[in-house]
Amino acid sequence: MRERAQRAIAECQKIAMMSEDTDRITRRFLTTPVRAVHAHLRARMEALGMCVWVDAAGNLRGVWQPEGSICRRLLIGSHLDTVPDAGAFDGILGVTLALEWVGMAQTMNFPCGIEVVAFSEEEGVRFGVPFIGSRAVAGRFDEALLALKDNEGVPLELAIRDFGLEPDLIGEAVADENALGFVEVHIEQGPVLEAEDLSVAAVTGIVGQSRLSIEFAGQANHAGTTPMSLRRDALTGAAEWVLAVEKLARNTEGLVATAGKITATPNAGNVIAGTTKLSLDVRHPHDAVRLGAVDEVLERANAIAERRKLAVQVVRQLDQPAVSMDERLTAFLTESLEAAGYPPRQMFSGAGHDAMVMAARVPAAMLFVRSPGGVSHNAAESVREEDVEASLQVAQRFLERLAGEIR
Ligand code: GLV
Ligand code: MN
Ligand code: MN
Repeated sequence: MRERAQRAIAECQKIAMMSEDTDRITRRFLTTPVRAVHAHLRARMEALGMCVWVDAAGNLRGVWQPEGSICRRLLIGSHLDTVPDAGAFDGILGVTLALEWVGMAQTMNFPCGIEVVAFSEEEGVRFGVPFIGSRAVAGRFDEALLALKDNEGVPLELAIRDFGLEPDLIGEAVADENALGFVEVHIEQGPVLEAEDLSVAAVTGIVGQSRLSIEFAGQANHAGTTPMSLRRDALTGAAEWVLAVEKLARNTEGLVATAGKITATPNAGNVIAGTTKLSLDVRHPHDAVRLGAVDEVLERANAIAERRKLAVQVVRQLDQPAVSMDERLTAFLTESLEAAGYPPRQMFSGAGHDAMVMAARVPAAMLFVRSPGGVSHNAAESVREEDVEASLQVAQRFLERLAGEIR
């Protein structure tokens, strides 16, 4: 099992080199390095005797169907895209481990097929909307998404065509009725397991998230000649709002809110900003609290804009409700933790995952692996070999348990 863990980690490090940037890991949806990742993983899947294809949403899919097995199959996987300046393990570890799961199943007379899904898009970095890959597999892809544009003005529809895929066929990416469930292994991306000195945990649910884009518009003007009292500064308006958002989140139990992206125009040192565009990401385990918080920060934006004589425009990009993982599969994972000699720890996820979208289509479950230092979405993200090995020990028990149920 140690060897499998070492290979899964080494593969993540290899794939980390397939990046848009030479000095850091950035791999956005349908960009050139994704082709190299697909070619690399395709070869590995084929070596495992899997039938491989890329669906119209850019997800790499590989099926291993053991001879004489029932045609139902277990889906396993995670995502291939990254945030800018990412670590080497967010998403991709769940894919390289999925291949190890296939290798383990091949040694145990597994009674059904396994499909590894390497989702093309989970982070929402390129088009502002996350889970594009898993939406397609879950049958939740809304055609309106094809009109979304990236920062360079490229519509999603064109990006798909440029990658050599056919957007009209996205409907065919949906997991069929043979899919009996989806399991995702992922780094925790937080400090809980480290604080408790635990290697792995079963995930019971995933927080809901709202994402939106907001633009304050004032008037670009001369930084030297325009008196402070006569300015309509879009950047100071945005700054006031960002602090109001932070204050609300700090004062609301369990709420996290992040304005992670800001663009001021014309973005020059001697020009008052005419417009400022920001992103906002709001999360809470309870949907009512999250939606109430979004309403409140939008009211604050309007009040700030009115006082500062700015216009404000909001685009709501995502309102993803909190999702519970499938009870039965999560119980199997929890029992597998115990059977493998680990505490049966269960926890909630504060990060979004493809599993929350897949849960709308098939029973979905997740296994977390400790994140050293709780660091993620950061180049310093890491994993420990022993924790990755622990996840494989649990996987072995889980596959045996599932096989017993199916036979
Ligand atoms: C995905 O990584 C997210 O939770 O934003
Ligand atoms: Mn991520
Ligand atoms: Mn992820």
